[in-house]
Amino acid sequence: MSSTSNVVFTVNPGGRLSGRLRVPGDKSISHRSVMLGSLAEGTTRVSGFLEGADALATLRAFRRMGVRIEGPDSGRLVIHGVGMHGLKEPDGPIDLGNSGTSMRLLSGLLAGQGLRLTLTGDSSLSSRPMRRVTEPLARMRADVRSAADGTAPLEIHPVQRLAPLDYPMPVASAQVKSCVLLAGLYAGGRTCVSEPAPTRDHTERMLEGFGYPVHRDGSRVCLEGGGRLQATDIEIPADISSAAFFLVGASIAEGSDLVLEHVGMNPTRDGVINILRLMGADIEVLNLRSVGGEPVADLRVRSARLRGIRIPEDQVPLAIDEFPVLFVAAACAEGETLLTGAEELRVKESDRIQVMADGLSALGVRAQPTPDGIRIQGGPISGGRVNGHGDHRISMAFAIAALRAAGALHIDDCANVDTSFPGFVELARAAGLDIRAAGAA
Ligand code: S3P
Repeated sequence: MSSTSNVVFTVNPGGRLSGRLRVPGDKSISHRSVMLGSLAEGTTRVSGFLEGADALATLRAFRRMGVRIEGPDSGRLVIHGVGMHGLKEPDGPIDLGNSGTSMRLLSGLLAGQGLRLTLTGDSSLSSRPMRRVTEPLARMRADVRSAADGTAPLEIHPVQRLAPLDYPMPVASAQVKSCVLLAGLYAGGRTCVSEPAPTRDHTERMLEGFGYPVHRDGSRVCLEGGGRLQATDIEIPADISSAAFFLVGASIAEGSDLVLEHVGMNPTRDGVINILRLMGADIEVLNLRSVGGEPVADLRVRSARLRGIRIPEDQVPLAIDEFPVLFVAAACAEGETLLTGAEELRVKESDRIQVMADGLSALGVRAQPTPDGIRIQGGPISGGRVNGHGDHRISMAFAIAALRAAGALHIDDCANVDTSFPGFVELARAAGLDIRAAGAA
């Protein structure tokens, strides 16, 4: 979906969030289920698949490469795996829309297939850095070419077998780690990645779920190339990154009491809960259980008085997608919140530090961007007009801010909410947010 389509959210101030709800499936796990299910031998059944534009872009890509996939039907997929070497060359470029995860993971997964392919994306994806994947892939003797400035489109050319790599990652990025590991499946030998800080480990967990041995030792993960994936069934939990909007919303809106069901609680993803609790949030973790190799729980959140904090830097990779809405929590907190060590936010679907600082400032909040973070002084939020910048998480973060605003909020450029959270407007309305969407996608 193009970020230029103008869907406008209008959100009236006030209200509280209550009831029980289940947000859509985890985006990261949804992508990986299609990727590994396609390369497996046998039939993989998936439930809880996120039917959002990003995960659907991955699904379409594998269909274009000859994989038969039934669904999605209410989050269910049946993937008829073609085996490690069964993908076919598509008849033209593969468009991955807004999805950085699709592009970075596929560049690795496809580098050693012996196929010629081109991966393209929308204007946001085409401006995001891809050297972080093309560089390690070049060291594996892959031939993956970016545009001169290191961005998409990516052209993948056939090579003989990939070389294994021992890669100390310069950035804490699960996308880069996954890219190298997926390429490593096709390398002649042992590929290892060391990460500077823990990042989401869904690729490692899911490879193991498909019967592929992965060796983990602290910050280092290794696998041997040349193995096979055995089809399995996957139940995808609700996305904690989507739940985050409601965790913050119920925390800041007085009188709220909300239960979020079946939320993925992978310890590499739970920074949003840790940070909100440090700010004084009232979040109860209920019924913690394990579903298909991933921890899952119901989360009960009630409104609380939040206080500003210095966000611990070790929480940054564990909450990397949740900062837009955490900035809204900071705007509603008493005192100052300081974020450092988060320069990665500047190269997400938008420059999330700058656009959140601009939007919050337009609503009368003192928000001062820094090169690697932001300083936010809690205080009143006015009504007004802000821009979602075609970035799903920015649009939803501002929608949540309306719970504490003095007047209506109009949020432009919200079509891309559909990339990670189809049905956001309806679900948020059912929980108590007075939101409506207008305009065509
Ligand atoms: C993702 C990893 C993160 C995250 C993105 C999804 C993944 O990116 O921001 O939304 O599924 O691996 P980085 O690993 O580049 O930080």
